[in-house]
Parts: sequence; structure tokens; C-alpha cells
Amino acid sequence: MSFNNIITRQEDSAFIITINRETKLNALNHETLQEIKQAVISVQNNKTVRGIILTGAGLKAFAAGADISEFASYGIEQGTQLSADGHEVMNTIERSAIPVIAAVNGFSLGGGCELAMACHIRIASENAKFGQPEVNLGLPPGYAGTQRLVQLVGKGKALEMLLTADIINAQQALDYGLVSKVVALEELMDTCKELVNKFVTKSPIAIATVIKCVNEHFKNTSPGFEKEIAEFGQAFGTTDFKEGTSAFLEKRKPIF
Ligand code: COA
Repeated sequence: MSFNNIITRQEDSAFIITINRETKLNALNHETLQEIKQAVISVQNNKTVRGIILTGAGLKAFAAGADISEFASYGIEQGTQLSADGHEVMNTIERSAIPVIAAVNGFSLGGGCELAMACHIRIASENAKFGQPEVNLGLPPGYAGTQRLVQLVGKGKALEMLLTADIINAQQALDYGLVSKVVALEELMDTCKELVNKFVTKSPIAIATVIKCVNEHFKNTSPGFEKEIAEFGQAFGTTDFKEGTSAFLEKRKPIF
């Protein structure tokens, strides 16, 4: 399988997916997200793969969000579809029978944070930074950030992050419970591979069942996922969205 925006390789029992758009801080355009989804699906029946590690190319970013330049000209319908497609990618990761580990090696913002949150385990390097800066763009998060951030860090911290767009560092992310561990950047991949080596010694059937049961706990507990898709789409019809995205592309601060 060949991809344009990601690199995949297998090392022992670990299937490693690297988002490869380093000059754009691994921003997630539509094709990149679809490729990640295809890559995850492609190994579901591969018995030699016992863990999937998702990371970003370079030393600066896991993924700095959805690709703003791609969606800046979208209207309500395209915005709604963008969110629905993104949700499906995140759900595919969350429902993977093989555990997916996010090796967060730098900025993990917006869609990048949502991508990490869809993974089963998050390990951060010391330089990792997390945030949901969408309100700077005149948007709510669109890839289930309003839902999974609440699940992971609780309503209070989630609302603080979502409303302020503040970027938190790796230690804060650890304190919040957003990541499981913080390690030096040079130890990040080895730490994730060690986790996969642990999975190798466990029953893959039992592991898949645990994932299924944990996912079931959150299933349909709230209509928030669908609400987010609809609201994200509606935001594309607002002047705040036009100002927020124009400001980013023009490298200036938005005026709301
Ligand atoms: N979408 C599209 N392009 C992005 C991007 C995104 N989410 N994040 C970064 N880039 C691009 C920049 O436009 C720039 O491209 P250019 O060199 O062609 O101008 C390149 O990646 C490097 O980013 P830059 O902003 O110059 O790096 P920085 O170190 O000064 O700042 C960030 C890093 C992460 C703080 C900044 O890039 C940023 O705020 N990104 C957007 C974060 C965001 O709002 N994400 C949510 C999107 S839903």
C-alpha cells in the first residue's frame, strides 16, 4: 500500500505510522486523515502486528491540527462533511482491535490533539504541547475534541482548555491525565515499542475485548458527537470563521 502523506513500516510486532508533512507541522489535510484510517484498517487482520504506533515526522510536531489552508474556503455543507469524515477516522482508530499508541513528539493541537485522544494510549516527549485552539479560528473542535477531552481530563479542565485555547506542556498534560507518561524525545519511540512488546505477551483476543468494552462504556452516553459535527458545520457560515481562518493564513491575530 503506498501513501502520499504518511510513511508506514513494521518493526517486529509494531506497525508504525508516521505523518509525513513536516514543513506544515504535519497538519492533517483530508488525504492524510484518510491514509491514517486506511493504514489502521490494513493491519486489523495481520496477526504479526500487536500494536500500532502513530507519530509525526520531525522533532517539532505530532500534528498541528487540521489543515487550515484546505478548509478556509469551505461553506457549511463542506464543513459538516469535513467533521463527519474526521469523526469516522477517529472512531476507526478508537475501535481498532489492535491497541493504537500516540507517540506525541511535539505540537499536538486541534485535530492533532483529537487524533492523539482517539488513540488508546498517549506517550508524550518532554517537548510535547497540547491544546484545542479552534476558538481562535472561529470554530469549535470538529474531530470530537469537545467529547473526548471531557472524557479524558474531566469537564472543568476540558472547558478551560477549550474556551481559552491555552496550550499546555507535557508535564501539565500528564497532571491532567491527558497522557500516560512523559519521556525524553530520544526515548519516545523505544518507550512505545516497549509497550507493544508488553502486548505481545498478552492475549490479542482479550486485548480486543477490553478495547470493545471500554468503548461501549462511552457509546451513546451523549449525543454530543453528532451535535459537534452539526455545530462545526454551522460555524463555517459565520463571519467569525472567515476572520479566524483569514487571520491565521495572513499570520496576524484575529479580531472578533
Ligand atoms: N494548518 C495548515 N498549516 C499549518 C498548520 C495548520 N493547522 N499549522 C502549521 N501550519 C503551517 C504554517 O502555515 C507554516 O507554513 P508556511 O511555512 O508555509 O507559512 C508551517 O506550518 C510552519 O508553521 P509556523 O506557524 O510558521 O510555525 P511556528 O513554530 O511559528 O508556530 C504553531 C507553530 C503550531 C504555534 C502554529 O503553526 C499554529 O498556531 N498552528 C495552527 C494551530 C491550530 O490552530 N490548529 C488547529 C487547527 S483546527
